[in-house]
Amino acid sequence: MSLTVSAPAKVILFGEHAVVHGQPAIAAPVSTLRASATVLNDQGGGLRIRSVDLDQVLPINLDSDLVDSALALTARLVLQRLDATPPNALITLESTIPMASGLGSGAAVSAALARAVAAAVGYDLPQSELNTIVFEIEKTYHGTPSGIDNTVIVYEQPVYFVRGCDIEILPIARPLTLVVADTGAASLTRVAVGDVRHLVESEPQRIQPVLETIGDIARQARTAITSGDVAALGPLMMQNHQHLQTLTVSSPSLDHLVGAAYAAGALGAKLSGGGRGGNMIALVPPDQLHQAETIRRALLTAGATRAFITTVEPANH
Ligand code: PMV
Repeated sequence: MSLTVSAPAKVILFGEHAVVHGQPAIAAPVSTLRASATVLNDQGGGLRIRSVDLDQVLPINLDSDLVDSALALTARLVLQRLDATPPNALITLESTIPMASGLGSGAAVSAALARAVAAAVGYDLPQSELNTIVFEIEKTYHGTPSGIDNTVIVYEQPVYFVRGCDIEILPIARPLTLVVADTGAASLTRVAVGDVRHLVESEPQRIQPVLETIGDIARQARTAITSGDVAALGPLMMQNHQHLQTLTVSSPSLDHLVGAAYAAGALGAKLSGGGRGGNMIALVPPDQLHQAETIRRALLTAGATRAFITTVEPANH
């Protein structure tokens, strides 16, 4: 049997970092970029995971307690959850999602792999269980993840997310067209999240209000998104970006790309994800969609290493 399962990339529209500290955030899947896992059941050899990107084949041994690799841990968690022994299968992983750039590549690879391991032993994991497993893996990458990445990637729907609360799928009234542009600088979310935590601990009186203001911005954005008031989102993105600067998670190149997108006609722009590098997003005016390509080119001219246009559609589109 050969079967391919997959999971999408994601962008955070509002509220990254503040979400780790209990504030709401909004994220959406980017379905055109995906991690995929192809299962080939065979006659022997146990379970092996072949990562095309890492150019390696990893044998999976259920008895090992070593947290040697996030891939092995994912496979083990799924098998333990299903009370299954490792099947004879080769699972090949591929991804078109750039790594360490705030697009959720780690969570998407984990989700695709977990789906594949379950499929290799004849199960279809419920979304909620898959979400729990991918969250466990996210902890090994991030330390203290909020859970927003795994949630938006597993459910592949726009979400309004508050740590520890039930998942809220966000009904989007009008599609949002975004340009996503990469600074080309890889950055570790774990480090940025740790630095923000230190900042909150060392200067709570200055930083706590910033987190709360970001939370207010996310709440206002939710109202604007669900009522179709796309124009209101531009200023909210600019404000959110400024507060992320205060949290020290922007960078000169992110600020430069945000300015370039705005100058080229975007309604607003901000960094997206862990920051310090990685990607930013720019919102295209809905009545001037031809501007998307102008903004994309302006971002490339301003130094982005790649830039693409994506549309956040209403749930179940
Ligand atoms: O994985 P990234 O780089 O998209 O960042 C995730 C968003 C953060 O709020 C920075 C961290 C988290 O766990 O929510």
